[in-house]
Amino acid sequence: MRVTVPTVQRWKVARGERAPIVMVTAYDYTFAKIADNSGMDMLLVGDSLGMVIQGLSSTLPVTIDEILYHTKCVSRGASRALVVADMPFLSYQVSEERAIEAAGRLIKEGGAAAVKVEGGEAIAHTVKRLVDLDIPVMGHIGMTPQSLHRMGGFKVQGATDAVGAGSREQIIRDAQALEHAGAFCVVVECVPQDLGAAITKKLSIPTIGIGAGPECDGQVLVSYDLLGLQSGEHRPKFLRQFAQLGEAATKALAEYGDEVRRGSFPSASECYGGTSQARVESAPRGKKTVSCS
Ligand code: KIV
Repeated sequence: MRVTVPTVQRWKVARGERAPIVMVTAYDYTFAKIADNSGMDMLLVGDSLGMVIQGLSSTLPVTIDEILYHTKCVSRGASRALVVADMPFLSYQVSEERAIEAAGRLIKEGGAAAVKVEGGEAIAHTVKRLVDLDIPVMGHIGMTPQSLHRMGGFKVQGATDAVGAGSREQIIRDAQALEHAGAFCVVVECVPQDLGAAITKKLSIPTIGIGAGPECDGQVLVSYDLLGLQSGEHRPKFLRQFAQLGEAATKALAEYGDEVRRGSFPSASECYGGTSQARVESAPRGKKTVSCS
């Protein structure tokens, strides 16, 4: 059955009776299908695509058009999981009107069921406005990558000696402001485990942790990180690699290259005889595909 916003809200109530919520980032159709089939509850079209797809050093330059393009791809591949699209830097902070237009595009054109915004008290009025217009909002607090320059890097937030924006008290206030504004869920990133637990206990909406400990109502990871597709880069403490697909892909590509260079690919069985023809067949969902046999 399709995961919906009310489903996710109910899972908070049922916490203790059900397993934690699982979310992963997705950026394209094929991966979205794989993630959906694997049982992921939510797929996040994260602005992390700036770093893992585009090779940027931060998420700041990502545009709404880029998120929209990837959201369309992911929405086509997800049949059960809830698709959440990230609102990129300055697409929701400038004015409520611009936020509505940007979020509206991700829902209307992109096919997302919800949008995600970074920040707490400072953007609560915008969150309320979006929610009042039936645009479900997921919050994101703690280490918020769009605040990179204020934070002075991707650093753990809410540590005991922190003051001001990154303090424990402010992060709790941010979480509560999002809940009051009507957010259906909140990502809590890179905070001490006890703070992740305290926020989870205080809120009546689910918390989805990334580097925020196991007490959160769910977990999220960047797909390229958990699958081991990134190499030689800084690896945060919370990141577990569940596969080494980067190594596997490099090995497969090297093997392909060797076989071509050695003349052993393609082999006789991988070539067409003189009588073969390309047949055009009807594929599921009304699409045409070329079957060469
Ligand atoms: O952009 C992203 O991928 C995110 C997750 C890490 C939560 O915001």
